[in-house]
Amino acid sequence: MAEPKKLFIKTYGCQMNVYDSERMVESLGAEGYVTTEVAEEADMVLLNTCHIREKASEKLYSDLGRLKPLKAAKPGMKIGVAGCVAQAEGAEIQRRMPLVDLVVGPQSYHRLPAMMGDLAQGKTAIETDFPPEDKFDHLPERKVLRGPSAFLTVQEGCDKFCAFCVVPYTRGAEVSRPVDRLLTEARGLVEKGVKEITLLGQNVNAYHGAGEGGAWGLARLVRALARIDGLERIRYTTSHPNDMEDDLIAAHGDEAKLMPYLHLPVQSGSDRILKAMNRKHTRDQYFLLIERIRAARPDILLSSDFIVGFPGETDQDFADTMDLIRTVGFGSSFSFKYSARPGTPAAEKEPVAAEVADARLQELQALITAQQRAAQEVMVGREVGVIYEKPGRLPGQMVGKSDHLHAVHVDDPDGRIGDLVRVRIKATSSNSLAGQRL
Ligand code: 5AD
Ligand code: SF4
Repeated sequence: MAEPKKLFIKTYGCQMNVYDSERMVESLGAEGYVTTEVAEEADMVLLNTCHIREKASEKLYSDLGRLKPLKAAKPGMKIGVAGCVAQAEGAEIQRRMPLVDLVVGPQSYHRLPAMMGDLAQGKTAIETDFPPEDKFDHLPERKVLRGPSAFLTVQEGCDKFCAFCVVPYTRGAEVSRPVDRLLTEARGLVEKGVKEITLLGQNVNAYHGAGEGGAWGLARLVRALARIDGLERIRYTTSHPNDMEDDLIAAHGDEAKLMPYLHLPVQSGSDRILKAMNRKHTRDQYFLLIERIRAARPDILLSSDFIVGFPGETDQDFADTMDLIRTVGFGSSFSFKYSARPGTPAAEKEPVAAEVADARLQELQALITAQQRAAQEVMVGREVGVIYEKPGRLPGQMVGKSDHLHAVHVDDPDGRIGDLVRVRIKATSSNSLAGQRL
């Protein structure tokens, strides 16, 4: 039998990309590829790019530069670029870097096997348009499972057009997958041992998939998923404040399988900046929303994304953001220094001085870190549910996630991956908790 071909895949950025990479591994697996951790021995190197992170395309080109000697040493090696940078730059990538053999946008991953066939025949392989078919229809079902927790993409794209963001351009308009497919896929995952499903979408709570009786919102989907026996936990990410419908908030109060953690990015605490960002909500509307969510589920942990140094951000605007963070109290958060994305409206505006933005980012991150510690400390002494995901570093130790999405280390020599156990939290360290199985 011929040696299997080897695939090296590097994933940048968000959970959506992690999920997409897994699907590409599966679909190329059907073509005889096995994954390798060593780029030098790969027959195919695939870079799954993300446009959100700073300097995404520079990073891609410098990574591609580093692949040059590898390809020179192994002439049959194919190099592919996937993800949002592929979508945004398309054939330009190959023009700048002729060593690239294949460019594939997120809407075209189901075409990968066919594109590999084209490559083998010496044809070019560039697909970055938005084909009308549902790409989800063509990808093979997930076979490779890594542990008890899985992602399920329910929605893609975004119609919000925040002034700083490329997603509406690279991922296109919002598309929701139909309910029956998702339920079937979820049941399949549970049959294979999955206990926790995180519903994914750039704008997940705008979900409006076709279901019985018309379009279903996210809350209805969550409730239907909750009826699957053996599925213990449901999460969803990422949400927009303006799409937190009443029934979704209510589900946080009465749907036991919906976990008490919500990532609800606000980006800024200044009304002036929110307006300039085209967020279409004010800080007071965000406060009110948080109040209603907490009324439904008092122990919910909230997280957010923040951008500092958005064009025009003054000291007062930044102070408003710090004030919002203090007022809400977040369990964790991601923060970014604004960076201009070509083609977005904000990119036309005068940027804030880099030193000012750097100083603000540091100040904001210090506050977020303090809040994260505080949120971990209140867990000490509490009893939490944990699903073991992998063995810990020490012998006899297991690591899993709590209901509130904290990583928890437990000494449990009898523990197995996938066990859902009750744990008493005993201690907290910088990024995780430690507890004792009850
Ligand atoms: N500059 C900085 N951060 C950005 N994000 C999106 N676009 C930009 C940008 N141009 C951040 C937002 C978003 C997260 C995924 O990335 O905070 O919520
Ligand atoms: Fe980008 Fe999120 Fe705004 Fe959509 S809602 S434009 S994905 S930041």
